[in-house]
Amino acid sequence: MVLDRVLVLPLLLSLLFLSSADGLVQDFCVADLSSQDTPAGYPCKPVSDVGYCDFVFSGLASPGNTSNLIKAAVTPAFVSQFPGVNGLGISAVRLDIAVGGVVPLHTHPGGSELVIVMQGTITAGTISSSNDVYVTQLKAGDTMVFPQGLLHFQINSGNSPVVAFVSFSSPSPGLQITAFALFGNDLPSEIVEGVTFLDDAEVKRLKKVLGGSG
Ligand SMILES: *[C@@H]1O[C@H](CO)[C@@H](O)[C@H](O)[C@H]1NC(C)=O
Repeated sequence: MVLDRVLVLPLLLSLLFLSSADGLVQDFCVADLSSQDTPAGYPCKPVSDVGYCDFVFSGLASPGNTSNLIKAAVTPAFVSQFPGVNGLGISAVRLDIAVGGVVPLHTHPGGSELVIVMQGTITAGTISSSNDVYVTQLKAGDTMVFPQGLLHFQINSGNSPVVAFVSFSSPSPGLQITAFALFGNDLPSEIVEGVTFLDDAEVKRLKKVLGGSG
């Protein structure tokens, strides 16, 4: 009898502890977009202000505008467009690539990417940190994954427009296009030449094409 009590009491206490810990679990944390994003996401907006529209985003229904240098449009449903994904480790993008278009070499520092091709044909590839190349052609229905932080690209290699939907393992994966990082800003040409092994004329030409200066 005494022994029973000795065994049962810690069990009851641990159940009590577990159930009070359960009470701290929060169903969601819809972003309060009037605050700043942080590495831990946006602060939560009060539950009393949350409605179904925080969990729905219709911005991926229409094609993006591909009349640009890369002939491609990336339409994001990241946390700043879609506050309901805050804290959930997930987000989406619509990708439209016109004939002859490309999503140039880029990375998402904050998340892995999974692309599902809906229409058209893509040549897609990724380059590992040991510089191994994984490149292939994707057609409608194919899915490819690009691990977090690795360089990758998508080229429309068919003769019709590409539509693809992408999901990310982060509400805010980020997007850095390598060509713009090198040639689309005011990093002085001599430094760009030094870090890329390209000659002065080529660096100046690329700065002009990609909107850089210096
Ligand atoms: C697409 O972008 C181009 C270039 O910025 C612009 O001239 C054109 O009006 C845009 N088209 C639509 C439908 O918004």
